[in-house]
Amino acid sequence: MGSISRFNLNKIAADYKCLHFLETGTWKGDAVAYALQTNFATIISVEIVPGIAAEAQKRFQQHKNVRIIEGNSVSVLSKELPLLQGNCIFWLDAHFPGAEEGIRRYDAETNEDRRLPLEKEIEIIRTSRPYCKDILIIDDLRIYEDGPYENGNAPEDTLPKGDRNVDFVFDHFAATHHISRLYRDEGYIILTPVHYGSTGQSNPEQYLT
Ligand SMILES: C[S@@+](CC[C@H](N)C(=O)[O-])C[C@H]1O[C@@H](n2cnc3c(N)ncnc32)[C@H](O)[C@@H]1O
Repeated sequence: MGSISRFNLNKIAADYKCLHFLETGTWKGDAVAYALQTNFATIISVEIVPGIAAEAQKRFQQHKNVRIIEGNSVSVLSKELPLLQGNCIFWLDAHFPGAEEGIRRYDAETNEDRRLPLEKEIEIIRTSRPYCKDILIIDDLRIYEDGPYENGNAPEDTLPKGDRNVDFVFDHFAATHHISRLYRDEGYIILTPVHYGSTGQSNPEQYLT
């Protein structure tokens, strides 16, 4: 499992004028705790397992700018994104309901859009926020393709049941964002808007801590 603390959120938020942080897949809330070190107007995190969401809601109840929302990331994003004004850093890390907690196996969820919601999340972000200059950081690239990851390739039971690639990320964002792969940990993809920089390749290493 990767960590958003690999990334310098203060620098990213300042460079791209991001007001909000939105995470899919809360688990223990460690990414939310890290995001609280940056001055975001809103921090939203979505978790599908009710007990895990309830624990996180308790953990952050004193922080008025934090919302932990229980639900499937795809439904929650569809509802929340049209209401979010201003640029956002997305940390897309929802997969395998309950598996990190040890409640279920990695391949137990039979609905593939709940087990690996990334493709649908990407579609919804693209269609809900056509004019925003959002940053997207995707965790666990190794689920979608093999590569020279620090922590090796993905175990069999975590792989998608159908097509396995990240073409959908390029299909939706290649025209508006630089898209870079990082092979630290289990792999990340970082998308930054071309609008803010040169039209050439961006250097994602500058955003690592
Ligand atoms: C890798 S953990 C998240 C770790 C957390 N983002 C962090 O950085 O510390 C993945 C979490 O996503 C949740 N999850 C899985 N599928 C989901 C879905 N479709 N919608 C929302 N949450 C989901 C799991 O229950 C689990 O708690």
